[in-house]
Amino acid sequence: MIKNKTSNSLRGAVPLSHLFLRERVRPGDRVVDATCGNGHDTLLLAQLVGPEGRVWAFDVQEEALTATRELLSGEGLSGRVELLRAGHERLAEFVREELRAVVFNLGFLPGGDREFVTRPEHTVAALEQAAGLILAGGIITVCIYTGHPGGPEEGEAVARWGAGLSPKRFNVWSSRQLNRPATAPYLVLVEKSG
Ligand SMILES: C[S@@+](CC[C@H](N)C(=O)[O-])C[C@H]1O[C@@H](n2cnc3c(N)ncnc32)[C@H](O)[C@@H]1O
Repeated sequence: MIKNKTSNSLRGAVPLSHLFLRERVRPGDRVVDATCGNGHDTLLLAQLVGPEGRVWAFDVQEEALTATRELLSGEGLSGRVELLRAGHERLAEFVREELRAVVFNLGFLPGGDREFVTRPEHTVAALEQAAGLILAGGIITVCIYTGHPGGPEEGEAVARWGAGLSPKRFNVWSSRQLNRPATAPYLVLVEKSG
């Protein structure tokens, strides 16, 4: 069984994204973590793809890559993950394979330097590249935080991008927790249908 501290609760956007990732990602798959931060999403992806799979994990701060490297190493999973100190807006430069999933967890690293916050123009550029690489039946998950400066604008940019995708090729969902404040994180889920 794949262990994860959020596995039994659906409080928040991240556990909901993990539910979809567990449903879709299979051993041997190629996947991307577009914002690895402390490595929790990368760890789940590394577990799901198994020894034959591959994970590319992006972040712009060394602190995040170090935390992710240590987490993976503690679980003996470093070998299946390529850590990249690069902005996700360069995704297609580093990844040329078809992907089962691309994971975005926007905002800033909790407890870290808020200078390294995700930005709408980079996020949308990366989403566009992710949509070009994703397999039919593959998913893009985007956890969105609107409680910090720039967060609402980033959420709107993601919504505009998602709304513009052809319904013949993509299914685009937005999931909010109705019994939490309007600023609670929410999930945008994109599935490539054909
Ligand atoms: C909310 S944190 C991610 C949390 C992470 N997924 C986890 O499981 O711990 C957002 C991360 O995005 C990173 N980031 C900001 N701009 C970025 C960019 N252009 N490309 C990749 N990562 C970026 C930040 O450095 C930060 O670590």
